[in-house]
Formats: sequence, structure tokens, C-alpha cells
Amino acid sequence: MDTIYLDNAATSFPKPEGVAEAMVRYLTEVGAPLNRSVYGRAQAAELVTLSLREQLKTFFHFPEKATHVILTPGNTYGLNFLIKGLLKPGDHVIVSAMEHNAIMRPLLQMMGITFDRLPADSEGFIDPNDIHGLVRPNTKLIVIAHGSNVSGSVQDAEAIGRIAAQYGIPFALDGAQTAGHFPLDFQRFGLSALSVPGHKGLLGPSGIGALLLTDEMANKLSPLVAGGTGSASDSEYLPAFLPDRFESGTLNLPGIYGWEAAMRFVGKQGIDALRAHEVELTKHFLNGIRDISGVRLCGPDRVENRVGVISLDFLSQDNAAVTYELEQRFGILTRCGLHCAPAAHRSLGTFPRGTVRFSLGYANTAVDVDAAIAAIRTLA
Ligand SMILES: Cc1ncc(COP(=O)(O)O)c(C=O)c1O
Repeated sequence: MDTIYLDNAATSFPKPEGVAEAMVRYLTEVGAPLNRSVYGRAQAAELVTLSLREQLKTFFHFPEKATHVILTPGNTYGLNFLIKGLLKPGDHVIVSAMEHNAIMRPLLQMMGITFDRLPADSEGFIDPNDIHGLVRPNTKLIVIAHGSNVSGSVQDAEAIGRIAAQYGIPFALDGAQTAGHFPLDFQRFGLSALSVPGHKGLLGPSGIGALLLTDEMANKLSPLVAGGTGSASDSEYLPAFLPDRFESGTLNLPGIYGWEAAMRFVGKQGIDALRAHEVELTKHFLNGIRDISGVRLCGPDRVENRVGVISLDFLSQDNAAVTYELEQRFGILTRCGLHCAPAAHRSLGTFPRGTVRFSLGYANTAVDVDAAIAAIRTLA
């Protein structure tokens, strides 16, 4: 049986042509370190890495130099680098009631940090104006998931950024579900930091991500990892300059090659075309399930301010069993459960049942969506 991949919110599949090839090329033909040796192949690797940073800078309208695009081992690491590198005991943070554990767990792991959650409505949207009531003299960060990996709702980052600026509080965004799916503008949103994964909507491999930092934020951040950078080797202290200060150790070079190739594809398509395709499929999906009784949509029933992450609660069934049936009987690959975001499910009223999550990607078609709708109708 052919399969239909609808688990793009977890990781995107398939990767565009050229991504796997670039990784293989690194492993079979290049095989050189970064920032350490100066022979031709090492310089070639350096240029590919610079190209990746430059493409991310352009794609996210990042006003700083490409040196401030820090390559990380993934989005979770980027968020940990930010949260643990910035906050000190006594600090207060504002998050939303839709956060993923990539934000909540590091916060809860830290001693002496307090936080407040901006409440979310039944579709998963927060009201940025609620920030006014949560700001305290010791609020050091507002950090929020731009798009929910459960409901697909996308928060009004521009409005949040405006309010954060009024109070002079740094605003950081978790771009896990919007990078490559929804316009994300570092400058317009007034961000101090943006963390993105390589392997979701940016269509690269897993094990790599990026943390984009303003110079002001970079200066406030303590590096969590220290080690060799290939630079300033006369000193046993970390260099002060970026990106080296936050990139100790040998980076994921096959990942850099793969992601660089993926970014060329993403950049060529452009966010407007990627978004338009996803909007069309999402609209088709939402229209197709509207009259099916026995399932509840857990998220917005319209395409504005949402990505193609569609969570359904099969009301009289076990959602895990539905996900199993979707694969066994229809070859449709989805994810069930709480999606690492228990707070989001509490906001949506689906805790602890969880939902069946269908998540769309650039390679999905209307035929895939039709098959999903037909399967949902049968199972509901
Ligand atoms: C909203 C959100 N934040 C953070 C993450 C963590 O990203 P990663 O697992 O790529 O580190 C995810 C992954 O699903 C996510 O959906």
C-alpha cells in the first residue's frame, strides 16, 4: 500500500531533490572540518556554511550580520541556549498557554525562575493585550511559539513585539511550526531572538537548527557549551566574537550541506508560494471535514492565522486507535497523543485525551487531502 505522509509538523517528508545528494557529497567528496583547516576542501565547506547563514538571514529578514545566525543541534537546543543562557534566579518570563515542552521544560528545570502564561482561547489564540497585566519589574523575556503544533493557530507576533518594545522586554519566538510555512519577519516582529529547526518547514535534515540573535541579546547570553572553536586557539577562554562564541565543537557538516541545499529550494519557492499551497490544502481539508459528525476540530476553522496543522478529536473513540487504523487501513501517516504540548491541550480541552494530528507539507496534494477526508469519514 502506498502511504500518504501527513506528519510534517513532526518532521517534513519528502525532502526536496538535492538535499540527500548534498549530504552524500559532503560525506563522500568533501569530508573536511570547518573553521580549522585551510586547504581547498575545508574552504569549500566554509563557503557552504556561510551560504546557509546568509540564506537564513535573508529568508527571515534578519537585520544583523550572518555571524549572528548561530547554528545549533536543533530547535530544542536553540531554545535551551536562549532560556538557560539568559535567565538568572529571580527573573520572570512570559510564555503562552500553548507552549511546547521545548520551552516549558527548560523553564521548569531552572531554579528560581518564575513565569506566567498568556491564556489561550478555545482555538489556541492568545490576546497580546494580556501581556500588559503580566509584566513585572523583573520580567526578562517573552518567549512564545509562533505557531501551535497542536491547533495550528499562529499568534500575532507583530502585536506581541510592539507591546514587548513598550516595556523594553526582549521578545523571542519559537518558529518550529511557522518557519517555511508562514511569513516570519525578524525585523517587523521586533524580535531579539528566533529559534528554528532545520528539519520541519525548512525541509532540511534533523539534528540541525539555528538561533538568530540580535547583537544586544547575544551580549546578554552566556554560552552553555564551551570548547574548541578553531579560532583564538592561543586562549583557553571562549572568543567573544560570533558565531564562534556559541558554536563550540565540530558542527553537523552533513546537516549543514543538506540544509543549505534545502534552503536554496525553499528560497526559490518563496514563502508566499509555500504559504499559498498550504492555505489551499488547509481550506480543502477544513471544508471536507466540516459536515462529518463524530469528530471535533481542535483549532481554527479558517485559514487565516493558521498553518496546516489540523488536530481532530474522534469523540467516541480512542484517538491512538484511530491513528493506528489510519495507517493500517488507509496508509495515512499521522500522529496521535499530546504532541509534547500538554498546556496546549489543556487550553483546547483535549487533555489528557490528545488528538489525531494531520499536518500538511509542500509535497502534499489535494489527492492526499481527499484520501484523508474519506478515511476520517469512514472512521468517524
Ligand atoms: C512548537 C514547537 N516547538 C519546539 C519544537 C521542538 O523542535 P525540535 O524537536 O525540532 O527540536 C517543536 C517540535 O515539534 C514544536 O512543534
